[in-house]
Amino acid sequence: MKTCVFFLCIAFLQRSMAQEATTLNAGMERLKLEFVLDRSGTPNYAVYFNQKQIVKPSALGFALSDDSTFYKDFELLGSEKKTVDETWKPVWGEVNQIRNNYEELTVHLKHKGVASRYLDIVFRVFADGVGFRYVFPNQAALKYFIVTDEFTHFNLTGDHKAFWIPGDYDTNEYPYTTSKLSEVDAWKLAATATDIAVRVAPDQYAVQTPLMMKTNDGLYINIHEAALSGYPAMQLHVDRSASSLSSSLVPDAVGSKAFLHAPFKTPWRTIIVSDKATHILASRLILNLNEPSVIQDPSWIKPMKFVGVWWEMQIGKSTWRYSEYADSTDANGKLIPNGKHGATTENVKRYIDFAAKNGIGGVLVEGWNTGWEDWFGNWKEDVFDFVTPYPDFNLKEITAYAASKNVKMIMHNETSGSATNYERQMDTAFRFMNKFGYTSVKTGYVGKIIPRGEHHDGQWMVNHYERVAKKGVEYKVMVDMHEPPRPTGMQRTYPNWLACEAGRGNEYNAFSKGNSPEHETIMPFTRLMGGPMDYTPGIFKLKNYSPEDPTRQVHTTLVKQMALYITMYSPVQMVSDLLENYEAKPDAFQFIKDVPVDWDDSKILEAEPGDYITIARKEKGKDNWFIGAITDENARTTNIPLDFLDKGKKYIAVVYADGDKADWKDNPESYKIQKLKVDAKTKLNLKLAPGGGAAISIMPGN
Ligand code: NOJ
Ligand code: CA
Repeated sequence: MKTCVFFLCIAFLQRSMAQEATTLNAGMERLKLEFVLDRSGTPNYAVYFNQKQIVKPSALGFALSDDSTFYKDFELLGSEKKTVDETWKPVWGEVNQIRNNYEELTVHLKHKGVASRYLDIVFRVFADGVGFRYVFPNQAALKYFIVTDEFTHFNLTGDHKAFWIPGDYDTNEYPYTTSKLSEVDAWKLAATATDIAVRVAPDQYAVQTPLMMKTNDGLYINIHEAALSGYPAMQLHVDRSASSLSSSLVPDAVGSKAFLHAPFKTPWRTIIVSDKATHILASRLILNLNEPSVIQDPSWIKPMKFVGVWWEMQIGKSTWRYSEYADSTDANGKLIPNGKHGATTENVKRYIDFAAKNGIGGVLVEGWNTGWEDWFGNWKEDVFDFVTPYPDFNLKEITAYAASKNVKMIMHNETSGSATNYERQMDTAFRFMNKFGYTSVKTGYVGKIIPRGEHHDGQWMVNHYERVAKKGVEYKVMVDMHEPPRPTGMQRTYPNWLACEAGRGNEYNAFSKGNSPEHETIMPFTRLMGGPMDYTPGIFKLKNYSPEDPTRQVHTTLVKQMALYITMYSPVQMVSDLLENYEAKPDAFQFIKDVPVDWDDSKILEAEPGDYITIARKEKGKDNWFIGAITDENARTTNIPLDFLDKGKKYIAVVYADGDKADWKDNPESYKIQKLKVDAKTKLNLKLAPGGGAAISIMPGN
């Protein structure tokens, strides 16, 4: 009898363990998603493009601090499907309206563990990819909880070519490597990237997102995340032999991943796919997965170009600090000037004059406030107070002067990584901006984070950056953040969060070996997929600019620097070089004066990650078009049909081209300018030098 009961139990157990696999589908045009709850109760998904599998069945789920099995033993309670097709208008952007069209599948799961716990997974299938997120509904048995791991897998169908940087918890500023997934080695890169101040890459086989890949049969796949809020950034661990990726969340100071309180929605995991590289750059999937703007009246948000007391410090011509050392004081305890301070009233006025004369909206000044003598490398908590100017920076005089010339001053709040200090000072700092008419702020997080033990990309800091963006909403201040995690489309929700750095900017050419000629052909496919970058283009003096090291040079031609205003989209673009370098070349500078930062439309004309990009954009509210074309270290010839112009309308094109003998290495500053009459039937023949580009303005006229 006993044996009989035992066997009966086993049979029952086996039946319930080995439940039938359940399959559900959703699709949009060439994209198809398959959801499978397998026999062990593990949720899986697979993705198909044109009926071809591009993500093999891949498991989903979590480990929680009190339940390491929150990835299996689920049962399906139900599911829903709906289709959405709507159009919305961004406050600023590459286009003036965006179609959001997807089929959504929501699955409701119940965990068969000790307590009754619930998890939903929401999939959205677009014509150009898939997004999915986990939702922890409001429930009795899961209220406050700790995620110790997220197990989101992306099982790929081959050893794809990948454009990657190491999965570092504190920085996205590495140069890109192009290799097979099986060749990823983050440690090799992290060991040599000594030009990056703080590097923490504990997993030898982890990479950052957005991860751009190309399959052997020519498909382009991009993996990233959207709406990173209240959760750590996701990096990807690469299983090199299986061509499989899995989520790796940046930990907090006590080694957990995320402290959550249900109801909670994780960020979306995104997979964009196409057989054309141009479609990847044109995708709006990540923006579409973000929440609409929280700002009712965005009239105070104004994209702009700006100059600044900045490159001169980057190249070592002047200093942020007023004094050489924090203890260089005179008998009265006052700092002794080092004679090289950049942010002097007189110097700032030069920049204001230049901006006013050339129609450039803003002036950024770094090193205006006390604290720069020992700001870096000491893991010091109270470095800056964000309101006290150095004695040679006359705040009132500068404010009045800028206002008289209709130029906006841009505040600089470097936190030195001390987010706790910034949190305490933030209201004072933003009030100060309001008082002195600063309508935007560039923030920065150089160095190790305080709270000590936290990382730039962990949950605590993700929350901090969002608090800063919200503070900007409260005080009507636009924000440009340096050193945060890479963006995830949150600029839709907070359109005052204009741009981030979060990547290897042009500045690396100023103080290090710099960026390779292919760098800017990769960045739009990687870092920029999540949002605008303050890349700081526009360097005209490309060699012999560094008093510290004469071998430094920018690894592009001058014209490519101009083309970057189009190919590196941002609603804030710095006009980065020293003023005298623009004054020496007024004919080329005309393009930078003309080029806008906000667009009605964008056409990605040609693109191949690592090789070239050509984009045409139409100025917001005008009939003017601008084209930027860039190439890597290889020269390139291309024919651009202007068939996007209005039929029958006449235009004048000004073509800024690399000089016949230009090349990034030995002859970068050679350029030529040609005026042409063009219309929709014209084909422009462009010749790009090695490391070169072309920049074209097209305006109505005869
Ligand atoms: C790093 C930023 O990227 C750079 O633009 C800034 O000048 C320095 N930090 C100092 O804040
Ligand atoms: Ca290349």
